[in-house]
Amino acid sequence: MASYHELPKAELHLHLEGSVTPELIHELAPDASADEIRGKFGFRTFPDFLECYKWVAGYLRTPDDYALVTRRLLESLAQQNVRYAEITLSAGVVIWKKQEFGPIYEAVQREAAQSTVEVRWNLDAVRHLGADRAMRVAELAAERTGEGVVSFGIGGDEERGPAEWFTEVYRFASAHGLRLTAHAGETAGPESVWGALRIGAERIGHGIRAVDDPTLVRHLRDRKVPLEVCISSNVATGAVSSLSAHPVRRLYDAGVPIVLNTDDPGLFGTTLDREYELVASEFGFSEAELAQVIENGFRYAFVPTER
Ligand code: ADE
Ligand code: ZN
Repeated sequence: MASYHELPKAELHLHLEGSVTPELIHELAPDASADEIRGKFGFRTFPDFLECYKWVAGYLRTPDDYALVTRRLLESLAQQNVRYAEITLSAGVVIWKKQEFGPIYEAVQREAAQSTVEVRWNLDAVRHLGADRAMRVAELAAERTGEGVVSFGIGGDEERGPAEWFTEVYRFASAHGLRLTAHAGETAGPESVWGALRIGAERIGHGIRAVDDPTLVRHLRDRKVPLEVCISSNVATGAVSSLSAHPVRRLYDAGVPIVLNTDDPGLFGTTLDREYELVASEFGFSEAELAQVIENGFRYAFVPTER
């Protein structure tokens, strides 16, 4: 088998705002000091990670800033032979910043149209900001299903925004032709994943705590519900206590569909190539297993794609 670097790949769980590296912050924000940037990027807990994400997003002040970040991300993906990417744009954060969404979306779409990577967009809402704002995000997504938006999701703090709050929002999104994903089972337990499934999530962002519930593991396997696994993310945010404690191998061996992703490559200092390298070196994935995980990236995409 060719190495995973050369193989065509897809990435399904990737936040545009989280692709910003410390170097790119220097470019976007000459006023931010090196010490401040180092401090913000030095998070070790999930709350501090969310704080960093919010801080970085605060430096995306204009549609041109969003365009620059998109261009840099797509250059990196193309270089890794990523052919298809579903990129999450945190529309919930755009609303929270009181920015106009339309010009930002036009800017990122313009960049996407110029890339060799086929891009589709997932608009995501912030769980802990509540259902009303999430509904606004779902409306923005529904208005753009013909223009590259394929799905709706919720991120942020699952402990402070239970899935049940979003039942109506998910019903609305689905009725308007959007596919559904949700961050769940990242920092909260299996019940959070069950909650996401109950409101209609077709894929689960992270979902790693499912490993604690054998009935849930069988459910995910039997219904072929994929987990968007992001190993370096889970280590960096403290969602797992150490790399070796990550349940990716156990979930894979139990037959749960696994897709590998970077989540926030700039914030975690990773790449998709690096995530494949990790499952090979740390979790002993064979070449055949790697090929299957790569294939899953295309199989569980919300849009059928040519490699
Ligand atoms: N937003 C960006 N990355 C996230 C993550 N890993 N969990 C929740 N919300 C996020
Ligand atoms: Zn995420």
